[in-house]
Parts: sequence; C-alpha cells; structure tokens
Amino acid sequence: MAVAERTRADRPIVKGRMYHIDLAPGEIPPYVLLPGDPARVDRIARSWDSFEVLRQHREYRSARGVYKGAPIAALSTGIGGPSAAIAVEELAEIGVHTLIRVGTTGAIQPWIKPGDVIIASAAVRYDCASSEYAPPEYPAAAAPDAVLALAEATKRLGLRFHVGVVASTATFHLGQSRPGYRGYTWSAAERRIDDLRHMGVLSFEMEAATIYTLASLYGLRAACICAAIANRVTNEFVPDAGVEDAIRAANEAVRILWSLDTLRGGYKREATISDLAAALGKLS
Ligand code: URA
Repeated sequence: MAVAERTRADRPIVKGRMYHIDLAPGEIPPYVLLPGDPARVDRIARSWDSFEVLRQHREYRSARGVYKGAPIAALSTGIGGPSAAIAVEELAEIGVHTLIRVGTTGAIQPWIKPGDVIIASAAVRYDCASSEYAPPEYPAAAAPDAVLALAEATKRLGLRFHVGVVASTATFHLGQSRPGYRGYTWSAAERRIDDLRHMGVLSFEMEAATIYTLASLYGLRAACICAAIANRVTNEFVPDAGVEDAIRAANEAVRILWSLDTLRGGYKREATISDLAAALGKLS
C-alpha cells in the first residue's frame, strides 16, 4: 500500500512543489502574467517566441517561455480574490517578483468602448480576500513602474487605453450591481455601480485588489491590464474584445521591466522616469 507523503500543514509543499500551483522554486522566471482563465495561459504562451506549458492543478495552469529576449511566465489565478491570493502567496515563495494581471473587465464609464484596455493604478477593495490581510484603510495600489511600463506598451502598440482606479468585487453578479437569480437584489448592491461611477472608477473586475494588496505587503511589483469586454452604461458585452491587445501590451511591459531590472542589476521597488527611459533606450 502506498504511504501518503507527510508535509507541513502551515506551508504545504509536496515533493518540493507549492501545493496549489504545483511549481517549485526557480522553475519559472520572476516575471509572471496572471490571467484568470486557465485556457488563456496557452493563448498567452503562443504569443511568445518559445514556450513550454508546465503544470495544471485545479485552476492553476502554468507556462514559461521567452518573449523578445525576456524570460516570462504565465499562471492562471482562477476567478476572484481567494484563488488569486493563493497564487500570489505561492509565487512569492518560489521567487517571483513581478506580477502582471492580464484580464477582462466591465467598464462603468460611458466613454470606454468594448475592446479598449484599462490599466489599473489602484483597486477598490470589494474583493473580500484582501480584508483577511490588512484593514480597509490599507490601499490596493499598483507599482508605479509597472503601470508606466504598461502605459508605454499600450501607447507604442497604438491601443485605446485608460489608466485609473478599478473596483475588484468578490462576486460577478450582486457585487457588480447585476441582479441575481430571479432578479434578486438589495439596496447596497443596486447602488454600488452608480456610487463608483460618480467617484470616477473606470470598471469592475475581480482580482486586482487582492493581488495589489498582497504584492504591497510582500514588496512585490504588481499591475493589471484588462480588456473592457463589457460596458455597463451602454449594456454591451463583446466576450473577446481587446483580449489579444491586452496580452500584447502585457508582454511588452514585461520586456520593459526586464530591461529596467537588467540595467540596475535586479528588481528594486524604487524607479524613476530616467531609469525607465534608460531601459527603453536599451530596447529600441
Ligand atoms: N469581468 C468582470 O468582472 N466583469 C465584467 O463585467 C466583465 C469582465
């Protein structure tokens, strides 16, 4: 009879691999794209110059490769904060420092068209998961260098893009002011979309706040680019609009950040405009 392996319960590692993501320290490069959807890992990997799909365990599918000379990886997070938090925890444990979420989002401002891309400079913490890590006053903010790298990449690709605050919710329906089954709703859920629109929030999505909060706590670099596949003002839904563009921009942003780190001998939290300009100069 096979004897089950015993491992620590407070930090489960099985045969040297993180229990959920099924990856080992050093197995992927420290620049990781984070789609929600496992199927998008393969799509992202096919946009690189070379790639290898690595593992699949639950919602976590992984790949690594090279994009225009930059080492790069992708790991799906599944939908929502709880599974995204596990991904960040275990990626941090295996030495990853740069997390770029590549997702989809539902715009709540009238000027954002389906197919535009949104770069989240910060996220409203309606995700629920991040409140298990820090009080509500703690901000969910992106790393400035990663936001600038994404903005530069989208501009160079000629995309329509917006930079600003998004709202990360714990649920797709009530949390984003959509009615539930048989039209169920309640006053706070109904009001949320109008309140956020009034505050200038750009869109709804479901993972950025968790990723940003944990990344800030752990000194990691995180940012997020999402394709606006919906607009809740015009009530349009275009399932794949802008997804390819968001992937292309995320790849280019990783190349910029990798150049920045190479120039400075490794990842550092602090970066200036002149550091980024020098990194861009090395690439062109
Ligand atoms: N993702 C979301 O979380 N909401 C949308 O409306 C579209 C994508």
